[in-house]
Amino acid sequence: MALILTKNDLVFAAEQLCNGHLVAFPTETVYGLGADATDGEAVAQIYETKERPAFNPLIAHYASLDLLKKDVIFTENARLLAEAFWPGPLTLVLKKTKDSSLSGLACAGLTTAAVRMPSHPIAQKLLSLCAKPIVAPSANPSGLLSPTTAAHVQKGLGNKIKWIIEGGVCTEGLESTIVDLSTDKPTILRYGTLTVTELQKIIPHIVAPDHLRADAPKAPGMLVKHYAPSCKVRLSFDNPQPNEGLLAFGPHVPQGFKVVYNLSSSSSLTEAAVHLFDYLHALEESGVDSIAVMPISQEGLGKAIHDKLVRAAGLL
Ligand code: TXA
Ligand code: MG
Repeated sequence: MALILTKNDLVFAAEQLCNGHLVAFPTETVYGLGADATDGEAVAQIYETKERPAFNPLIAHYASLDLLKKDVIFTENARLLAEAFWPGPLTLVLKKTKDSSLSGLACAGLTTAAVRMPSHPIAQKLLSLCAKPIVAPSANPSGLLSPTTAAHVQKGLGNKIKWIIEGGVCTEGLESTIVDLSTDKPTILRYGTLTVTELQKIIPHIVAPDHLRADAPKAPGMLVKHYAPSCKVRLSFDNPQPNEGLLAFGPHVPQGFKVVYNLSSSSSLTEAAVHLFDYLHALEESGVDSIAVMPISQEGLGKAIHDKLVRAAGLL
């Protein structure tokens, strides 16, 4: 069972977050499973704990606009929507800044990031004590209902996490509305409690696809573009090709490749998850024509790593 913390324990909870541990906390939408967004290992624990079968990018939560603006490019439309709806149940997808503090895993290798400022007083206090972005997907095992009370979190994840902050029943009870502002066409990616009419009052030409449903988070990542390297990826490492790079895993690295990045020489899946997107980017940027990938166990986090590599290889 996880320990239930109260609003009097927020300094302790913030310390845990800043030290790389997970803490479930209330927001006005649903309870989130929080981790330091700048710490790849902490983010990897989220995927492990929720047993997410794929690395969907996460939402980074902030208490301060100044901090947020260091991580994403805050456009004029972002300013308008933020003025109207923040703090509140709205998430904006924006381009990351060059020196964004968000870990590659938090954004699943994308050049954009989803950010929001929650209005729940406990979330705000906790975030301002952390003074860091905190990623938080809904605090439930993957595929199950989102939690709107601390008891729901305890039931779903209580045997896997140490701390849950009690903050009553979430007033919105539905995940935040997500708007993509990273392209020239502002587009709603997920419907939530904030309605299209409310959004259109601020951005009249916002694209509101009618095939999206309010329960879209049950199929997270469906509408998200996945990062894939621009060069060819193959899930095998025999016969090194000319000008080929290797994404290695484990202590025995074969010879004959132009560049090698080892996800984890000690075969740690957590370490591999932390490095996955950064190393794919590095291999792509090294100018190789193709990337060979060594096999990785499909236990635990390995499943999500494998899913990513299969997609990168164009096999899914
Ligand atoms: O209300 C909420 O937003 C809750 C609370 C805890 O804040 N959080 C939440 O997180 O619903 P999660 O991880 O369940 O949903 C994140 C959604 C996913 O559907 C993901 O695909 C999308 O945000 N997302 C994240 N980064 C993105 C990006 N760069 N581009 C497009 N979509 C993105
Ligand atoms: Mg969710």
